[in-house]
Amino acid sequence: MELLVLGLESSCDDTAAALVRARIGAGGTEGPGEILSSVVLGQEGLHDAFGGVVPEIAARAHAERLDLAVERALGEARVSLSCVDLIGVTAGPGLIGGVLSGVMFAKGLAAGAGLPLIGVNHLEGHALTPRLTEGLAAPYLLLLVSGGHCQFIEVAAPGRYRRLGGSIDDAPGEAFDKAAKLLGLGYPGGPEVERTATEGDEARFPLPRPLIDRPGADMSFSGLKTALLRARDLAVEREGGLTARDRADLCAGFQAAVRDLLAAKARAAMDSLGWPEGERRFAVAGGVAANGPIRAALAAAAEEEGFTLSAPPLRLCTDNGAMIAWAAAERWALGERGGEISARPRWPLDETAAPMLGGGRKGPRA
Ligand code: KG4
Ligand code: ZN
Repeated sequence: MELLVLGLESSCDDTAAALVRARIGAGGTEGPGEILSSVVLGQEGLHDAFGGVVPEIAARAHAERLDLAVERALGEARVSLSCVDLIGVTAGPGLIGGVLSGVMFAKGLAAGAGLPLIGVNHLEGHALTPRLTEGLAAPYLLLLVSGGHCQFIEVAAPGRYRRLGGSIDDAPGEAFDKAAKLLGLGYPGGPEVERTATEGDEARFPLPRPLIDRPGADMSFSGLKTALLRARDLAVEREGGLTARDRADLCAGFQAAVRDLLAAKARAAMDSLGWPEGERRFAVAGGVAANGPIRAALAAAAEEEGFTLSAPPLRLCTDNGAMIAWAAAERWALGERGGEISARPRWPLDETAAPMLGGGRKGPRA
């Protein structure tokens, strides 16, 4: 059967709606899915002055824009709400105000149209994206690396996840954002740091690679930010300010450290699985996977370990509604039919793993 799914996402600073067609067979979804439209309304201008996402501003903006996002998504897909079979909405984890805006809006929409509604785990949306984009077969290893998340997850099957390791402090995207702020670059920091680093010499400011030699796949990024701050202050002290050259070199040094850490831990995670040849699949998702040098290093690590690497197109690496629609379709295929939904600010994919990250700038995380 075919399902036309409307997906809604509002757990951080993007308001997103998308329409995805999914085929469901006896054994589950038959990917890839077909993305009919994917609308992402950013909140760029709204948080600039604060150097990070302000939860109250984000929640209000979501409430104001969800309607528009859905209208556009339907328009671009050239379908009406009456053609939709199922609605999926992010029910957590994330900033509770934004999640609530989305859940309340979706409840109203579903009740009005008489449609089933499934509450989706945002992390599951990211985790299943390679199945949406290329029908990747499970099991596979996933590195989810974004502004709020950083973990290696074994996707045994849709709905069955095991965490192999993760950041014990900051998420790399958050570290990129803080690094950009330290160097007077804009928000979000990742793309700015990447652009600035292209002209830089990564060897001029050697930064530490915390935990790189420790066995296992746990990571740490907060020390890196402190080291960057110290290197910046030393440069300022010596020269009375930061030149464009300094900034480029600092960005390059920082990005190289994150790259090396992620690649080393990816190797460790792949190694620990002991999967047979021909069954070794590695996928990346999340905003930081948009970074060119990091993607390249992960590809090299995968090749060394005999894994294939799946990296969704950039616009599906960052937050979007299509991944939420797809995850709802996967849940439907598992037999879920919706029901009472509550917003969950914390909602780990692997419920048996101990929580790792505390509440940060982007809100509580799993
Ligand atoms: O997945 P995402 O859109 O939102 C979260 O769920 O967090 O990821 C956003 C994060 C931001 O912290 C941003 O700085 C980072 O991903 N990011 C990048 C790049 N593009 C986005 N980090 C490094 N390099 C990039 N090119
Ligand atoms: Zn995300």
